[in-house]
Amino acid sequence: MAKQKPTLSARAAALPASPIRKFVPLADGAKKRGVRVYHLNIGQPDVPSPETFLKALSEYPNKIIAYGRSEGEVALREAYCEYYRRFGIDLSPGEILVTTGGSEALLFAFFCAAAAGEEIIVFEPFYTNYNGFAAVVGVTLKPLATEPGAGYHLPRRDVVEAAIGPRTRAIAICNPNNPTGTVYRDDELEMLAELARKHDLFIIADEVYREFVYDGQSHTSTLSLPAVAGRVVVTDSLSKRFSVCGARVGCLVSRNEEVVAAGLKLGQARLSPPVVEEFAATAALKLPPAEYVQPMIEKFERRRNVVYEAVAEMPGVAVHKPAGAFYTVPAFPVDDAEKFVAWMLTDFELDGATTMLAPAAGFYATPGRGTREARIAYVLEESELVHAMACLAEGLKQYPGRTA
Ligand SMILES: Cc1ncc(COP(=O)(O)O)c(C=O)c1O
Repeated sequence: MAKQKPTLSARAAALPASPIRKFVPLADGAKKRGVRVYHLNIGQPDVPSPETFLKALSEYPNKIIAYGRSEGEVALREAYCEYYRRFGIDLSPGEILVTTGGSEALLFAFFCAAAAGEEIIVFEPFYTNYNGFAAVVGVTLKPLATEPGAGYHLPRRDVVEAAIGPRTRAIAICNPNNPTGTVYRDDELEMLAELARKHDLFIIADEVYREFVYDGQSHTSTLSLPAVAGRVVVTDSLSKRFSVCGARVGCLVSRNEEVVAAGLKLGQARLSPPVVEEFAATAALKLPPAEYVQPMIEKFERRRNVVYEAVAEMPGVAVHKPAGAFYTVPAFPVDDAEKFVAWMLTDFELDGATTMLAPAAGFYATPGRGTREARIAYVLEESELVHAMACLAEGLKQYPGRTA
C-alpha cells in the first residue's frame, strides 16, 4: 500500500520534547478537575512587566508595523550599550545583534561557533533547550558533570581540558546557571578563558540571569575578560530581567566582528526582531535599576529562601542552595522523577492544589543522569510557594514510588 505521508527527517524525529512543557496536557487535566496547579515547571515570573514597557507598547508611533533592521533598531542597541556600561562593559552598537529572545541568540551562537559534526562542551545539568538548538545546528553537546556536593561549580581544569578534542569548537556556560542556580567564581571563568586560548575555542556565555544573584554576591560577565575578547559570544535576554518573556527580545553580543557579521546574515534570513517590542524594550532598558530590576531581585531572593528552606526539610531530599537565577534542582526519594511529576498532576491534590515541576533528565545529555531530580522554578508569590511546598512535601509522602 502506498504510504500516506513521507517520513519525518531523522533529526526532527530525534528531537526531545521539552521537559519543561511536556506535562502541560496533564496539568490541563488537573485544572479541568478543578485542581489548582502551581506552575513551578517554567521560568515565567509572575511579576507584572514594567509600566514603562507597557506604556511604550501602546504608544508605538508608526502607522505600519513594518519590518525593522535585521540587526535590531539603532535606539535599542544604543540603550543596550548604556545598560552594559553599568556593569563596566564598554560596547559599541555594532557589537550587539538584537534577537528574538535569548533563544535565537543561542541558536545563532551555536551556529557560528560549530559546524555539523563538531562539539560544544556543556556543564551538566544545563538549560534543556541547548539540546534543541544543538540538534538544529547538528552539533554534539559534550557534557561534563558538575556535582551538588561541589555547589555545581566547574570541574577541575585538567578534567575540562581532557574533554577538549579535535572536533571541540566551544565551551558553553550559563552564568548564573539554569537549573542549578550556581554563580561561577572569577577563577572558574579565567580557567575557561585560558583553555579557550590554548585550544582556540569560543566561549558561549548565556547570561540571561545576570542580575539574579543573591546573598550580596556579584556576577562577572565573560565580556569583562579582555584576554578572550574575540572568543566570547554572550547570549542575553530581557525576558526575565523585565518579566517580558512573551515580548521575545534578547541579543547576541560579541567583540568578534566575524561572529556578528555571520549572525547578521542569519538575522537577515529571518528579516527582523519584533519592532514594537523593540521600541518598548528601549524604554525599559533605560529604567534605573532601583525602579524595577532591584526590587524584583530582592523579591526572588526571599522566594529562594522560602523554597530552599522548605525543600531542605523534606525527608530524603538532597538540595543545594542556589546562589542565583530562580531555580533549584533537588534529588527526590522517588523511583523516577518523570513518573513522580506526572503522578502529582494525575493522582494527587492537597487542599485543592498540586505542583508541576520539570523532570531533570532532559537537563542532562548523559543517559541515566538526573532521573531522580526535578527542577523547581520559584516564580510565584511567597504565600503560594509556601502552599506549593506543602503540596510537594505531602506528595512525596504519599507517592507510591517513594524509595528509601
Ligand atoms: C538559561 C536560559 N537561556 C535562555 C533562555 C531563553 O529565554 P528567552 O528566549 O525568553 O530570552 C532561557 C529561558 O528560560 C534560559 O533559562
